Amino acid sequence: MSRIRVLTGITTTGTPHLGNYVGAIRPAVLASRDPQVDAFFFLADYHALIKCEDPNRIARSRLEIAATWLAAGLDPAQVCFYRQSDIPEIPELTWLLTCVTGKGLMNRAHAYKAAMDANEAAGEDADAGISMGLFSYPVLMAADILIFNAHRVPVGRDQIQHIEMARDIAARFNHLFGEGRSLFVLPEAQIEASVATLPGLDGRKMSKSYDNTIPLFEGGSKALREAIFKIVTDSRLPGEPKDPDSSALMVIFDAFASPEQAARLRADLLAGLGWGEAKQRVFDDIDRALSPMRARYEDWMAQPAHLESVLVEGAAKARRMATPLLAELRECVGLRRFGTEHLPGATQKTAKRALPEFKQYRDAEGSFRFKLLDEHGNVLLQSIPFEHPKQIGQLIGTWRGVGQVDADELRRVDGMANHAMVVAALQSLLAATSA
Ligand code: TRP
Repeated sequence: MSRIRVLTGITTTGTPHLGNYVGAIRPAVLASRDPQVDAFFFLADYHALIKCEDPNRIARSRLEIAATWLAAGLDPAQVCFYRQSDIPEIPELTWLLTCVTGKGLMNRAHAYKAAMDANEAAGEDADAGISMGLFSYPVLMAADILIFNAHRVPVGRDQIQHIEMARDIAARFNHLFGEGRSLFVLPEAQIEASVATLPGLDGRKMSKSYDNTIPLFEGGSKALREAIFKIVTDSRLPGEPKDPDSSALMVIFDAFASPEQAARLRADLLAGLGWGEAKQRVFDDIDRALSPMRARYEDWMAQPAHLESVLVEGAAKARRMATPLLAELRECVGLRRFGTEHLPGATQKTAKRALPEFKQYRDAEGSFRFKLLDEHGNVLLQSIPFEHPKQIGQLIGTWRGVGQVDADELRRVDGMANHAMVVAALQSLLAATSA
């Protein structure tokens, strides 16, 4: 049986805060270590564009969020960690899905309805300020999930409807184009009952929209201390007994402290510990818990090029799955190469079609090289020498597997090759092997 695929997206508009860490990042990183699952984590930066038109904020947020997840212990060798916008198959699938999604289904989306209700309440036109991006948001999200055939999608309650829509869309696509097969797995929402929502400074849920957050890493210890000292408490003086649970301070502490530390703070507050001293203690303990991660965060933030390479590699890994699936889907909806389509009534041609071909050989110096020929025998690529034939085997295997090669990688193998022509040849090889 194939392994369970679990997939989660993080919209890149804000700076991670303590509530994100406790409610989403920490449990997700722990869950990603389960050897039974294949985990997919991605930065939903196309989704971010729907909510935010400030390019610098988008750029900054995706960097901060990538650094945060890695600092929090996400291991890119174990999971698939990538940016949505690095996977061109996602917007392409979005279109295929858009064409089978009822407008009526999208009319029912909560986010869209809430925006319309707000407009009506303000006496505006119902659609004022509502972009097609917001309206079609659930289709893009369905593509995120379906392109990897994820089984489970851990999300907050506000996202359940989106997962149901993804199921509806997937089922309709399967019905229309699957010819009895399931092209898509029907995903299920996974709601963590045990995951805490952390209160913010004022006791309401910690959220950017309430402006009551405590930063996770940004601003360092100083910003953390400042925020903790702003947590609202009652005005009881030192020496007066305090109800530990009258303030968000205790709940926030509970999320980081050991049961013993938490019990001690409760007892001390009941016995009259001053709020100021309590806050200092909470700060000291949380700061101690966060500081190794914060150091890693700062390391990542100081090396954006390294971060970039981790994500580019993640995207390559993800595309090894996405590219063949999309090729199949294109075929299913009728976007086929001319001459290869099975037209109704036409008899299948049995003659072998000419295909591009890889050839390995040894050069005069005894080094190993390879060529790529197109279907007419023209040389598209002639490689630099390699020490071992195995290296060539691996390289060709990867290229053929995805039907793609990165332009820079191709340049390293043959500085003269035409990228588009090589990709076209790889695509026809891929189409031929998956047919
Ligand atoms: N919409 C999700 C949110 O706001 C983020 C997201 C985008 C997502 N694509 C996804 C979550 C796919 C899970 C799966 O939280």
